[in-house]
Amino acid sequence: MGGDKIIIEGGVPLKGTINVSGAKNAVLPVIVASLLSSTPCRIIDAPQLADVEVICQVLESLGAKTYWVGKDLYVDASEISHCEASDEIVQKMRASILVMGPLLARMGKVRVSQPGGCAIGTRPIDLHLKGFEAMGVQMSKEQGYVTAQTNGLRGARIYLDFPSVGATENLMMAAALAKGTTVIENAAEEPEIVDLANFINSMGGRIRGAGTKIIKIEGVSELTGCEHQVIPDRIEAGSYLMAAAITGGDLTLENVIGDHLKPVIAKLVEVGCQITEGDSTLHILAPQTLSAADIKTLPYPGFPTDMQAQYMALMTRAQGASVIAETVFENRFMHAEELRRMGADIRINGRSAVVEGPCRLQGAMVKATDLRAGAALVIAALAAEGHTEISNTYYIDRGYDNLAAKLQGVGARITRR
Ligand code: EPZ
Repeated sequence: MGGDKIIIEGGVPLKGTINVSGAKNAVLPVIVASLLSSTPCRIIDAPQLADVEVICQVLESLGAKTYWVGKDLYVDASEISHCEASDEIVQKMRASILVMGPLLARMGKVRVSQPGGCAIGTRPIDLHLKGFEAMGVQMSKEQGYVTAQTNGLRGARIYLDFPSVGATENLMMAAALAKGTTVIENAAEEPEIVDLANFINSMGGRIRGAGTKIIKIEGVSELTGCEHQVIPDRIEAGSYLMAAAITGGDLTLENVIGDHLKPVIAKLVEVGCQITEGDSTLHILAPQTLSAADIKTLPYPGFPTDMQAQYMALMTRAQGASVIAETVFENRFMHAEELRRMGADIRINGRSAVVEGPCRLQGAMVKATDLRAGAALVIAALAAEGHTEISNTYYIDRGYDNLAAKLQGVGARITRR
């Protein structure tokens, strides 16, 4: 990872080609799911992300081994000796709670710190815990920790009040080694869920229906190691599309699955971009002037909440007013304040924001408040007049593999200090 600050001189249209890395939100659950197997798994061409390093630390703290051979990450969970995800590790990265499913399946018990809120919301885990209870898990909570144990997971029919990505993943992993069949209804449909199901099936699992609202998991007695390459990162890809759109660029992305970006592509076309899809490429040609258009974030296949901040940055340069409704998280507008420092005209009203454009963005000293807010500030800075310094860039390193180098490669004046 580079220095703590990202420095950008704005005003350069992005031109050229960027290669997209493997998906952060696919590789994290896949690494955790490797705990289900007592023989090693190989994750091919895993993205180099801070969150990948953290999840590997979590697995090492449980007694598993993780090591890199070139760009491939190996996970060997033949020896699991601990069943606790400590306080500071869970506070550092919420995805650590995904160890619950595999540890309950393999060890029959797990103790995790309840994830606190974070910048974007309270982020409870009630849906995870309710699903585990239906599968024969006893829970107790004390001093901010959840202790869960079972005499053997059993298949259950679970209805998720909200199509939670994490709850769907946690329950799918537990169900893979449970006795009997589990049905998850109102399941999350994200592509990362499908990728995780494919990975578990490569280990010998029996999961059907991933990517739809009803997922059926037939428990098996054991799972063995396999090798897997995760899907490309649709949010990283979408972020670079927005960067090209705001700078009047002409950009080609390689290693993308256009199907995973449908709502983002549709919206970029609506605001005036020309987008052409190749086999595993996307090309975007930005218009001279952008039109304003509204969005409402929704669970997949709706417009992704993880693209909301980046879209808000883009709309500061569009002609007219745009309304942005954030329905997934209750506090995901922290980036608005920082964009205002660059000259944006944004009014927040509860869970919706109104952006008046176009405004002349000026370079400023700003700070990332979460991963995607950081990406939004990079996007705004690329189109701003003058010099921007973005601090707290560790947030950006969590989910963007080599962001500065990739943007330098297409003409951006960006450095790390
Ligand atoms: C995953 O988080 C992603 N993270 C998030 O990406 C993404 O924003 C989110 O899904 C929604 O798409 C990973 O995959 C590692 P949820 P997750 O459970 O699983 C509520 C990024 O920028 N909820 O679908 O935590 C919750 O409070 C990150 O890459 C409950 O109420 O998301 C939230 O409002 C940010 N109870 C909503 O559901 C629960 O038990 C969506 O949460 C669980 C969730």
